[in-house]
Formats: sequence, C-alpha cells, structure tokens
Amino acid sequence: MTKKIAVLPGDGIGPEIVAEAVKVIECLRREYELDVEMEEGLVGGAAIDATGGPLPQETLALAKASDAILLGAVGGYKWESLDISIRPEKGLLGLRSELALFSNLRPAILYPQLASASSLKAEIVSGLDIMIVRELTGGIYFGQPRGIRTLENGERQGYNTLIYKESEIERIGRSAFEIAQKRGKRLCSIDKANVLECTELWREVMINISKDYPDVELSHMYVDNAAMQLVRAPKQFDVMVTTNMFGDILSDCAAMLTGSIGMLPSASLDANGKGMYEPIHGSAPDIAGKDIANPIATILSVAMMLRYTFDEFEMADSIEQGVNSVLDANYRTADIYTDGMRKVGTAEMGDAIVSAIIRNMWNKAGGESSGSDRNCVRGGNFSNDQD
Ligand code: IPM
Ligand code: MG
Repeated sequence: MTKKIAVLPGDGIGPEIVAEAVKVIECLRREYELDVEMEEGLVGGAAIDATGGPLPQETLALAKASDAILLGAVGGYKWESLDISIRPEKGLLGLRSELALFSNLRPAILYPQLASASSLKAEIVSGLDIMIVRELTGGIYFGQPRGIRTLENGERQGYNTLIYKESEIERIGRSAFEIAQKRGKRLCSIDKANVLECTELWREVMINISKDYPDVELSHMYVDNAAMQLVRAPKQFDVMVTTNMFGDILSDCAAMLTGSIGMLPSASLDANGKGMYEPIHGSAPDIAGKDIANPIATILSVAMMLRYTFDEFEMADSIEQGVNSVLDANYRTADIYTDGMRKVGTAEMGDAIVSAIIRNMWNKAGGESSGSDRNCVRGGNFSNDQD
C-alpha cells in the first residue's frame, strides 16, 4: 500500500533543504519504485503567518494520518518577540508530544572525508560513531508547573519542572538498550544523580532494566562530565541515553565533532516505529534563501526514515552511499568547505547526491541502465571522478 509522508518545510533554510530531500525521495520513487506519496503542510513561523498558530489542526491531522513526517526547521527572528506559548518552536514540540514521539535518535558520525573540518584534531574524531538517544516528550520541556509568576514583593520568578515517571524512563531506556544491542553493545546513561532526585530515579530505573539486556554493558556519567568527555575523548561512547534537555545540549556538542551540525539527521519515533525525521540543526535565518545551506542532514534524515519507518534498508544505504560519493568527489557546502575543495550551493549539492545515487545504482547493476526517466536531476552532470 502506498505510504504517506507529511512534508513540513517550516522556516528559514527549512524550505530549501527540504526541497533537496524531496528530490531524493522523487528519485527513489522513480528508480527504486519506492511507493510513497507526499503532502505538504505548514508548521512553525510559516504557519503563524498563514493561520495565527504554529501547529494548525490541519497540519496535526496530516501528521497523524501519515506514516512518516519530514520536517525542515522552525523559528526565526521575525517571531522571537511572540509569547513563548505561541512561538514557532511550539509547533515542533506540539508534534512531538501529540504524536508521542518519545525516542529521539541523534547519530553523530564522522565522515572520514571531513576529518579536517572538525574543530578537534583528526585523531580524536576519526572513526567517530555515536548514537545519542534523547527522551523527547517529557522532562523539563513539558513538566508542570511552569511559568513566570510575580512574588508578593513584586519581583518576578521563572520556574520549570524536571519530572519523569518510572514508565517514561523505562520506555526510553528500553529503546536505548535495544539500539545498543544492534551496535557496539555499550550504553552510557547520562544524568545528574548527584544533585537532581529526578535523575537519581532515572539511574535506578536504568540499572533495573539492564538485567533484561545482559549483553549490553551499562555505565553512568554525570552530564557535566559527559560534555567534557565528548570533546576530550568522544570515541569512548557507543550509545548514550539521556533526558530531554541534556540530550538537546549534548547532541549539539556531539554534532560539532563531526565537522558541521549541517551533517546530522535525526529520527523521533513513537512506540510503533512511526517517526518524524529532521536535521538536528535549526532554521539558520541568517543564511536562509541564499542557496548556501547544507542539505545533507535532511537528506540523511530521509535515509533514517527509510530504515526506521519503511524497513527499506537497501534504499537507505543507497542514500548514505550517495552522500559518501559526493564527499569523495570533494563537493562541499560552505559549512564543510576547506581549501582545495569544490564549493557548491544547496541545490547543487542535492543534485549531486541524486546523481550519485543513480550512478551507484547503475554500477551495482553492472552498468545496465534501468531504462527509467532520469530527468529527476536538474543539470545532472555529476561524476565520481570530477574534481
Ligand atoms: C532541537 C531543537 C529544539 C529543541 C527546539 C527548536 C525547540 O533545539 O530539536 O534540538 O530544543 O528540542
Ligand atoms: Mg537542540
């Protein structure tokens, strides 16, 4: 049966990078007969401008009726003065909580071609392959009570609540253990159990459920130490599991190890494998509309969609190989550019990846043409041995 993808470009660079990911999906439809249909919806600032709110009912209904969601990014200067309860970010948070997308997978993988683009020494990051599993629908992001109140003396006080039920910790813990089982079998749980009772409970639950995963080695680390270890010796980590806010912070940090936050995809999954897929970077309003944003994180998010929601492993591999090929051919957007490389814009990078996917497919098929329509590539002149 035809699967449905809700496409939510959002704000800033969102529409540009999503357009490149859509090119890749169109190409897979044509070349691999991927049986999907796409429907666009409004979210974030774009939705505020059009409808007055960041998550219109129509968009929520579309997301609920779809098998997967591809999201660009939300937010921008234009909406920063709005009340926090109706800001673009609320659209994203609303989708996460309404769809119960509690398990957020944020891989940080260093492409060998980009070792010199990392701010850390190549020997510290080469071969890096970390998976951060971030709890996404609870913790301080959603805890009640929250707000800003005025005290009796007239002074204002801001407050939020860090809160987790055992069941919430257990389900994200089990997700992380299962992922660790399929990888290096090491799971590091990140908390602040020396100060925060909520994460003392977090640690206790992780230890309790670890008995069901005897093949996975569980360790614990305080979040401040984890931030330090990520920049000191990041390769010690295989899978990390942590709370919503710690995961937000640590995943940005881990992303930068790979050379650019513009490279990293993410998946946010519910209990049944339905997912929302998005780059982990934001809307970057300062570079929006200039055709310089890196579309790779969004394109790799499509690979995660194929792997986690559609069980299309070969197609997922083909996207990742396509990205590898263009990096081998020295194509670089501005964020990953180093001397001697070939600087390309957003659309040119997307076209090059589409061409590489098709080229790799031909090569696999022994140079045989599949005979399908190749017009999905604008200016499709990519070649592996181009400079
Ligand atoms: C992220 C972002 C979001 C978050 C914002 C945009 C609400 O930083 O996905 O990491 O804090 O979760
Ligand atoms: Mg973040």
